[in-house]
Amino acid sequence: MRTTRSTIRTRLRLAGAFATVLMAAGVVTGPAAQAGEERHVKQPTLAELAQRHGRYFGSATDNPELTDRPYTEILGREFDQITPGNGMKWYATEPEQGVFDFSKGDEIVNFARAHHQKVRGHTLVWHSQLPDWLTGREWTASELRAVLKKHIQTEVRHYRGKVFAWDVVNEAFNEDGTYRETIFYRTLGPGYIADSLRWAHEADPRVKLYLNDYNIEAVGPKSDAYHRLAKELRAQGVPLHGIGMQAHLALQYGYPDTLEDNLRRFSRLGLDTALTEVDIRMELPADEAKLATQAEWYRDVTEACLAVRRCVGVTIWDYTDKYSWIPAFFEGEGAALPWDEELRRKPAYYAIREALIRR
Ligand code: G3I
Repeated sequence: MRTTRSTIRTRLRLAGAFATVLMAAGVVTGPAAQAGEERHVKQPTLAELAQRHGRYFGSATDNPELTDRPYTEILGREFDQITPGNGMKWYATEPEQGVFDFSKGDEIVNFARAHHQKVRGHTLVWHSQLPDWLTGREWTASELRAVLKKHIQTEVRHYRGKVFAWDVVNEAFNEDGTYRETIFYRTLGPGYIADSLRWAHEADPRVKLYLNDYNIEAVGPKSDAYHRLAKELRAQGVPLHGIGMQAHLALQYGYPDTLEDNLRRFSRLGLDTALTEVDIRMELPADEAKLATQAEWYRDVTEACLAVRRCVGVTIWDYTDKYSWIPAFFEGEGAALPWDEELRRKPAYYAIREALIRR
């Protein structure tokens, strides 16, 4: 079903894409062009187009990339929201117990402020990229509670008024919907999630608090677990405001067809949703057909968010293949982002534009 629909849509859109390429290049056709004139006009950015829908369109970035001028020029212009890829994680912000270092996160916040972009905080509680002092010893429950509370509250306080949302707990569930056996779960039990949300809320009552995970784009055991937990937390009055769906997709695993329904069922719980780390990888080498399918997925993902009122925005996990995390983590895969390694726009970029313009 999907292949047939996809193929027809892809053909139609290839024709459309050519026109869009001309438009994006600033070449406007019409009477003036017929008279042999070309007019160069400024095209709206993805951010400007998303704002017409009351959404943001963002990108992750990382500190080492901020010295790359052609890169930062696009990062500062095309997006209205930034997520630090690593700079706000525990290993970076509390490298020694009780010694906080916010320089990396601050650098990204400063970049964002200079470009009128808002910042998603990522992430306070995660089993990965923890400092050695935390993972290298055993903790009693009361010790770890104190350590966790201090970490969360110090960081949230530091960024109060500077980030609009936090991924408070990241990747708390396994694929089958059971709790992931992290240092926090093992030592504190499942209540660490509600506690973390409450502590974050105490430190900044205005910031939106999210749970964030991958492979929860479709309806299934893992997203069901979030739905159940979110419902419970809301019923208990725990300050949870949103669910972040990372959306690290891969062409070889198929499109999450139930994404829109899934976003909608979280909205019905009174929660915001966001697509927080979108990328769409493929087996290399990339070719025209794969890039066309990828473009279609980017369009579908964008349209799904626009279709659901409480889906507040889309963030891609960096915008260029030059700085994508994929090749280092998945051998033989890549080409996951809408700009290529030379910072040239790919069909995916035009597909996102089209989705933002047409809806
Ligand atoms: O900081 C060291 C540097 O000193 C060293 O020279 C270099 C050599 O490889 O490694 C650097 O650390 C790397 C770090 O990124 C900073 O660049 C780590 O090796 C590398 O593993 C780490 O990868 C990050 C990954 O999270 C870790 O799981 C990616 O950049 C980051 O994009 C990725 O982001 C995660 C989200 O936080 C949560 N969701 C999944 C997503 C993708 O994995």
